[in-house]
Amino acid sequence: MSVVPRFAGAAALTALITLGCGGAPAPQPIGPKGSESGALAPKDEDGEVQAERGARLFEQYCSECHGKHGEGTAKAPPVVGAGALPLEPRAAAKVRKAQFRTALDVAQFVVKNMPADAPGSLPESVYWDILAFDLKANGVSVSGKHIDAQTTAALPLR
Ligand code: HEC
Repeated sequence: MSVVPRFAGAAALTALITLGCGGAPAPQPIGPKGSESGALAPKDEDGEVQAERGARLFEQYCSECHGKHGEGTAKAPPVVGAGALPLEPRAAAKVRKAQFRTALDVAQFVVKNMPADAPGSLPESVYWDILAFDLKANGVSVSGKHIDAQTTAALPLR
């Protein structure tokens, strides 16, 4: 069930924002330096495994507003399918201001603002699993890499 400690999100948020701004060094380099593919360190799970878990987590934490499969509802825009995750904020957007160029752009928006009724409330790993699911559902390849701040920075959405 959804028994997630509220405070876990704060650490996730800080970590993501810090990494995303390029200010702090990444804590655990994965794969050889300069590797675009985000080669796997032994303990890193493949994005496919994250995506599988992420589908269930999406249903638990996001589907109430974004629909069971991310197709969108009257409450919130689609995050899966044609027109999902557009480069520019939607005309009707009240919260989103930033472009979505890379998967990391989406992650930063989501950690800071989602779930809209409890922003930043989920553990960091839950956000990455959900992102892996959402990327895969939109045809972005998540296999062969662990979906995290490092790999998503080099993962264009389109
Ligand atoms: C209580 C309702 C609610 C929940 C729960 C929720 N969202 Fe949202 N979400 C919204 C609304 C409303 C927007 C539009 C924000 C705006 O106006 O800029 C949005 C926008 C988004 C966007 C940007 C979409 C776009 O086209 O710009 C993404 C990505 C997103 N949500 C992901 C998630 C994820 C992942 C979760 C689960 C962790 C989640 N949301 C949970 C209501 C919700």
